[in-house]
Amino acid sequence: MSQPVASQALAPPPPRHVAIIMDGNGRWAKARGLPRNLGHRQGVDAVREVVKNCRKLGIEYLTLYAFSSENWKRPESEVSGLMDLLRLYIRRELAELRRNGVRIRVIGDRTRLAPDIVSLIEDAEAQTRDNRTLTLVIALSYGGQDEIVAACRQIAEQVSVGKLAPEQITAETVAGNLQTVGIPDPDLVIRTSGEQRLSNFLLWQSAYSELVFVDKLWPDFNASDLAEAVGEFQRRERRYGASGE
Ligand code: FPP
Repeated sequence: MSQPVASQALAPPPPRHVAIIMDGNGRWAKARGLPRNLGHRQGVDAVREVVKNCRKLGIEYLTLYAFSSENWKRPESEVSGLMDLLRLYIRRELAELRRNGVRIRVIGDRTRLAPDIVSLIEDAEAQTRDNRTLTLVIALSYGGQDEIVAACRQIAEQVSVGKLAPEQITAETVAGNLQTVGIPDPDLVIRTSGEQRLSNFLLWQSAYSELVFVDKLWPDFNASDLAEAVGEFQRRERRYGASGE
């Protein structure tokens, strides 16, 4: 007879934190002769599906790379289209996210965002602060190098006012000055569209993340692709620099 309890106990744990580089919206639209912004709009449907399916897979934290610090270089119409989608997503989904126990956190450079978006974000964070089912981290106007530079400045200030000695600076000091303070490092980073790079995403935090590259374009990514990436993660051996013996 099979022993489901024993075999379940041996199953590797799912990733606690999954971070996703949602790439390929533009190519999805181009392949259909549509404007790029329609690809982004379709990408929001994939966001909804992934958020909905995280808890079923045991994921506690989901970080989505919605807009990078480099994305400001895109044409004005595309930038404003993306900002409109973010406004719409927060306005339309907030009530349901709240009901489903989702806590929202936004990381990135808020000084470059329109004041109404900053207010929407602050409000969404405040309204969902006590939720614990899933933490949804939205990286918006975010760049990993900028984040590390800002942390260095904060630490340098603490040193210059005598609150900290240079020899007291550790990896924990740096992590504690990043915007992701309090959020565990991502166990799994997924990038869609077949591209294989990090593009300035969670550079410090992904030091030991497993990377999974999926050939599908982001708007085509669905619940079973997420489950497959999680399965791939569970088949990997994480060694954190040790020998595995
Ligand atoms: C990359 O595809 C995708 C983006 C720059 C934007 C991602 C944004 C969304 C999916 C919608 C808003 C997000 C939330 C959380 C509501 P690309 O345009 O670089 O695609 P390409 O490489 O094919 O051109």
